[in-house]
Amino acid sequence: MIIPVNLTTEKYDIVLEREAIKKVGKLVDLKRRVFIVTDSGVPKEYVETVSSQCETSYIECIPEGEDSKSFEMLQELLSKMYEFNMSSEDLVVAVGGGVVGDLSGLAASLYMRGVDFVNVPTTLLSQVDSSIGGKTAVNFLGTKNLVGTFHNPKSVIIDVDTLNTLSSRLIHEGLAEVIKMAITFDEDLLELLENTKEPFDKDEFESIIGRAVTLKLSVVTEDEKDNYLRHTLNFGHTIGHALESVNKGELLHGECVALGMLPMCSKEIQPRLISILKKYELPYEIKDDFEKLKPALLHDKKTTQGGIHCVLVEKIGKPVIKKLSIEEIADKYSDFQKGKNQ
Ligand SMILES: NC(=O)c1ccc[n+]([C@@H]2O[C@H](COP(=O)([O-])OP(=O)(O)OC[C@H]3O[C@@H](n4cnc5c(N)ncnc54)[C@H](O)[C@@H]3O)[C@@H](O)[C@H]2O)c1
Repeated sequence: MIIPVNLTTEKYDIVLEREAIKKVGKLVDLKRRVFIVTDSGVPKEYVETVSSQCETSYIECIPEGEDSKSFEMLQELLSKMYEFNMSSEDLVVAVGGGVVGDLSGLAASLYMRGVDFVNVPTTLLSQVDSSIGGKTAVNFLGTKNLVGTFHNPKSVIIDVDTLNTLSSRLIHEGLAEVIKMAITFDEDLLELLENTKEPFDKDEFESIIGRAVTLKLSVVTEDEKDNYLRHTLNFGHTIGHALESVNKGELLHGECVALGMLPMCSKEIQPRLISILKKYELPYEIKDDFEKLKPALLHDKKTTQGGIHCVLVEKIGKPVIKKLSIEEIADKYSDFQKGKNQ
């Protein structure tokens, strides 16, 4: 499946195909210096498959994990790109999850004011979410994604077969983002997730990924620079990010987003959401006291004077952005805890 992306400044394709990783050389011009970035948790076979198709390549393998999205690692990458004699005509290829994609996309956007970037996402979360929309970032001063750029790839190459090696916890983490998109924009996708049984076969994966990619794409195409509509993709993220900061190392990002959606949707949606979270082994009980979340909420990027811009979903497919005070968020949080967590 080829999904064309038509932005005002860029046109490129998202290729969603089994064994697509073996065809990177057919899809992208690799007859130049190719700087490939991966991390220590990504199976070597994927990066070797890409490098074997290049004439001149260099593989930079960063330590796996969110800590690699740092200024230090960015500087390391830029130094290695310089030592590899990269020119403005050359190419950076990310082979890995959202950490590799966000960091190497940022390096590609900065080196010589921008070189070509191709993303080969290998986690479900990166295939349905982080590889789409051109956002790059590192974390800074303890704040996630505080420093970044918009730098669209020349191509996104999604090979569902790379999910064979991904743990079921990480598959479910990616599904949390798909559930988020379904609740926010597409009840049919929600029904598909409700009616499909695990383990998914490759066709089921492809159709779920294809729908999620198309949804995210329609939002980012309408709001390329994150002015309004794109904020709706943050459904579940305000409370989710705060939960992530207090449960560092215990809960994954997608698991926190799963929990973060619950207080922000209507009482009618909550039971349906809880049942799909249970189905995909995602958490559905919020244990932390709200007071613990407050410092992180006050540092949220969506915090402005007088409140935080939150995404609320009263009806499936109809997200609303509303500025809520900390007290109003606390009320929603405790309403949910009282109703569902006891
Ligand atoms: N740019 C965006 O728009 C955007 C959107 C959402 C999330 N993000 C970012 O994405 C990041 C999270 O991405 P993620 O969930 O992919 O995490 P990740 O990149 O840390 O990958 C998770 C783990 O899976 C391993 N892995 C990757 N591919 C694998 C495979 N095929 N088989 C086995 N193991 C594999 C990695 O080594 C890592 O240990 C966060 O930093 C988040 O901020 C960015």
